[in-house]
Amino acid sequence: MPMHPWWRDAVIYQVYPRSWADSDGDGVGDLPGITSRLEHLVDLGVDALWLSPFYVSPQHDGGYDVADFRDVDPLFGTLADFDALVSRAHTLGLRVIVDVVPNHTSEEHPWFRAALESGPGSRERARYVFREGRGPDGEDPPNNWVSKFGGPAWTRLPDEHRAGAAGPGRRPTQWYLHLFDSTQPDLDWTNPEVQEELESVLRFWLDRGVDGFRIDVAHGLVKAEGLPDADLSIDADVEATGRLPMWDQPGVHEIYRRWRRLTDSWVDTHSSPLWGEDGDRVLCGEAWVQPAEALARYVRPDELHQTFNFAFLMCPWRADDLRSVITTSLASAKSVGAPQTWVLSNHDVVRHATRLAYPQDPGQPPVEGIGADDPQPDPALGLRRARAATALMLALPGSAYLYQGEELGLPEATRIPDDARQDPTWERSGHTRRGRDGCRVPVPWSAEGPSLGFGPEGLPWLPQPSEYATLSPDQQRGDTGSTLELYRRLLRLRRELRLGRGHLEWAAGFPDSAVAFTVSCEHGSVLVVANLGAAAVALPSGAQVLLSSDDLDDGRVPSDVTAWALLG
Ligand code: NOJ
Repeated sequence: MPMHPWWRDAVIYQVYPRSWADSDGDGVGDLPGITSRLEHLVDLGVDALWLSPFYVSPQHDGGYDVADFRDVDPLFGTLADFDALVSRAHTLGLRVIVDVVPNHTSEEHPWFRAALESGPGSRERARYVFREGRGPDGEDPPNNWVSKFGGPAWTRLPDEHRAGAAGPGRRPTQWYLHLFDSTQPDLDWTNPEVQEELESVLRFWLDRGVDGFRIDVAHGLVKAEGLPDADLSIDADVEATGRLPMWDQPGVHEIYRRWRRLTDSWVDTHSSPLWGEDGDRVLCGEAWVQPAEALARYVRPDELHQTFNFAFLMCPWRADDLRSVITTSLASAKSVGAPQTWVLSNHDVVRHATRLAYPQDPGQPPVEGIGADDPQPDPALGLRRARAATALMLALPGSAYLYQGEELGLPEATRIPDDARQDPTWERSGHTRRGRDGCRVPVPWSAEGPSLGFGPEGLPWLPQPSEYATLSPDQQRGDTGSTLELYRRLLRLRRELRLGRGHLEWAAGFPDSAVAFTVSCEHGSVLVVANLGAAAVALPSGAQVLLSSDDLDDGRVPSDVTAWALLG
């Protein structure tokens, strides 16, 4: 294992392949499109990219419904395109992380098809969670679990799957578990065949030169023995997640110990001297787990390297809450010797330039989907706060994740026509939750063209809001006040000063409405002041301003602005 593994302070940029760059004009992004745009990431100054799924998939959940874990969907290209992407990224000095989706497969995965064709009790069904229903003819689901996208977490097989001889006495059809869409059956992780298969999938992509994995639903693989009913009054995002029988069960940690042994012992088969040092691959878990101590268990020295810090992402723009979540996050990571991670946006939540445009009292900022008839955001306020929040985040010690388009200040698309929506959440919730399409709209690359440079021709798979034209990189590059140039400055300075390896101390002498701290770095100490109050905040005399997320007011930090300054 290297002395200072790259991932401890890396900035990792998430690419959602459907929406980043379309090379062939079919309206959906693809791998050659991504390869052709990698210079944007070098110019931005990130260390790595994480690719959301591009595997063979019927795309019922944007590719998180995988039908073949070892191949590229023709929508996105071929394995040769993937190899070309990794090779180009490595040449440019960028690492590549891919998604692994171990909790479920697509209903079109050969395993699930075989499970449908085989009867109850078969080896094929044992790879998934099939159960008899409750009630006289098994007409009620096996338990009361609900899908994350709405509706029951169980679907009953149609009558043709009844087992046994014809006529009365035939066994009722079984139900299968799906914590997400009914097209995403959950795998049974107590089955050694499932465990071996997913480890073999990891090896397949490691062999192709990837630098790590983002693990989908990392906290959901193991379910409580006997699949007991859940107390549905528990809010898993706030209370102890493990009190619910489908999340954060103790058995999940043994899986990650095995995965860590696999990545730690991975010997590079590629000859590049720079890339793929033995044992330096990263595992980052998507684990929506509370409280912080429970989440920290995932990053003990023999488990994952990182988990996403969703507590930080969900934190309202309020000084007390931010101080508290930063303190707790750093302490919990430190207790197990892991670096902390920070994130503000991804493909599952309302973009932070829009989330922060709403009142910030608990429960108010929308996190999942906004429709045209919902209250609309104040875009100027949202962008100002988003820039300040990012400037705060990129000064924090540890590793940070960015989501495509946030460097352009893209807001959420809040007026997508309902009949254009693709997220299964919209249908499964009976049209009560708009879902995540608004943060997945294809990114603009130029102010002109039918898809604003996203593809050579044709309309994108989700409509782009008209304001995206003015936010394209070609409109922002070279404009010192633009969000793109702010991100470039932030990332350059963060790297030069090695802030990600620094140590945070809260700074005294500032109003409570400001989040103020110092980060030690190779050049001394950097003071970071994020002003969440109304009145401008003065910086100490002698502080040498390095940057600010918006203009300072006579040397003072105005409302909703973050400044970095070098202390003498
Ligand atoms: C989390 C992913 O981020 C999300 O997009 C997906 O819908 C679910 N897991 C199910 O795979």
